[in-house]
Amino acid sequence: AAAEKGGWPSFMAKEVAEEPEAVANTIRGRVRDGAVVIPELDGLDDLFTGINRIIITACGTASYAGLVGKYALEHWARIPVDVELAHEFRYRDPVIGADTLVVSISQSGETMDTLMAVKYARERGARTLSICNTQGATIPRESDAVVYTHAGPEVAVASTKAFVAQITALLLLGLHVGRVRGSLEDGAASVAELEALPAKLAHVLESEQGHVAQLAGWMADTRSVLFLGRHVGYPIALEGALKLKEISYIHAEGFAAGELKHGPIALIEPGQPVFVIVPSPRHSALIHAKVVSNIQEIRARGARVIVVAEEGDAAVLPFADEVIRIPLAGAFFEPILAVIPLQIFAMALATAKGLDVDQPRNLAKSVTVE
Ligand code: G6P
Repeated sequence: AAAEKGGWPSFMAKEVAEEPEAVANTIRGRVRDGAVVIPELDGLDDLFTGINRIIITACGTASYAGLVGKYALEHWARIPVDVELAHEFRYRDPVIGADTLVVSISQSGETMDTLMAVKYARERGARTLSICNTQGATIPRESDAVVYTHAGPEVAVASTKAFVAQITALLLLGLHVGRVRGSLEDGAASVAELEALPAKLAHVLESEQGHVAQLAGWMADTRSVLFLGRHVGYPIALEGALKLKEISYIHAEGFAAGELKHGPIALIEPGQPVFVIVPSPRHSALIHAKVVSNIQEIRARGARVIVVAEEGDAAVLPFADEVIRIPLAGAFFEPILAVIPLQIFAMALATAKGLDVDQPRNLAKSVTVE
């Protein structure tokens, strides 16, 4: 097993280190003449032109990738997208039919809840597309089309490289569908963003790994951590909290930053650690200002604020206890970078507590029962 880990202390550490490669491999072969063209979807344009809505269905980490995908798909492809947990979708008599494309996301391709949701969608006449990391798995076999993520085998129970590959595949899908539907405006710029991602991921790993691990070491006795994000930072807040629950057994919750005043702010007491994912002010000065004002609100109540912000964003400095930097990237590409420090944090905290990061208690890599 030590040899399989390639010198890393855990599969999770190895898989985090493989993230730049996972993203690069997922993009490879899917850009043609400066546009995203997914060869697996050749001849399947009607999957995207003959529909009026998309439902993304998945469980766990894959569902958070789906939420990032919703924002990107709606922006680029101008089509309504809903994200539904597979086990809720399947049992609530949803309104679906031939005008619906159901996109499932699954690392293993074997998650029973997700498989049942896909079968159910097909029975109701919907079209189905699967985003999957495992060649020939059951879910892609049950779907009309498949876009594989090429993250390579993921062994650690908590998903890391598959998650960034899933978001990458959803961005590719959004750009592909936007082109096919004729709604895409900034295609070439987005392709440039995609191709720049692997190097930026490598940069985050290099520049922040030590800093984040040190933070986690200081916080080994922490009993609760909150995560706030807005726009595509919101699903990243949810994922940051999930990672911490899964492998560190610490109470953690992710919130949409705008919800703070509707409840979560009551949880803030002196010393409460809060991670805040701050979107770049270059994408939207308004969204950025709102998140900075959330930081001020929690800081005023004594929160210990750990900010994940773009390099050069000085607005966060007066209110942050710790600043984790990520490189500049387009709005929909930023979450792929922002999640890395959160994964490292969870891993380092679990390690500091002496836990097995690869095999957390009570969890399975793939849940093949309903
Ligand atoms: C399990 C794993 C999670 C994963 C989820 C969905 O709960 O522990 O890490 O996100 O299943 O798995 P899938 O293979 O469908 O992506």
